[in-house]
Amino acid sequence: MVREIRKIGDPVLRRKAKKVEKVTRETQKLIDDMLQTMRESHGMGLAAPQVGVSQRVVVVEVEQKEESSSASSTITYALVNPEVVRQSDETWQDQEGCLSIPGWRGEVERPLHVSVKALDRSGNRVKLELDGWLARATLHEIDHLDGVLFIDKLVAPDRVWRVKEGEEEKEAA
Ligand code: NI
Repeated sequence: MVREIRKIGDPVLRRKAKKVEKVTRETQKLIDDMLQTMRESHGMGLAAPQVGVSQRVVVVEVEQKEESSSASSTITYALVNPEVVRQSDETWQDQEGCLSIPGWRGEVERPLHVSVKALDRSGNRVKLELDGWLARATLHEIDHLDGVLFIDKLVAPDRVWRVKEGEEEKEAA
């Protein structure tokens, strides 16, 4: 089921989301709905507060180009109670968008590499080593769980701009 995406100004986006005590069927239904909602909006990630649920659940879906060929593969995962356990000192800047702030892009600096521990959709413990866009998208979503939006993290106040209609949701998270 596609859920309504909450937009900036909705207080749920600024609340600290609650830890999930146990991964239940309800949690799994939430994850499935979040994946469907993210895909319908062509996003690369979504956090539960963005569908009005103040719980620590995120989904990420990033298309990665293979280095050896022109082929690409899609990496998808759901994380419950994600925690950053380590991050690289090395950082990089790139543009981010957010499905809750449609039509805007901004330049944000993020660590190049992070280690994240979490529970997966089945409630099993997982640890992920993430680089590049996977790291960026996952950190953007974890920020949502603490009520933080990318516009809070711009490298400079003027490093935010509008994108053309039709492109506005592409690659937002
Ligand atoms: Ni976002």
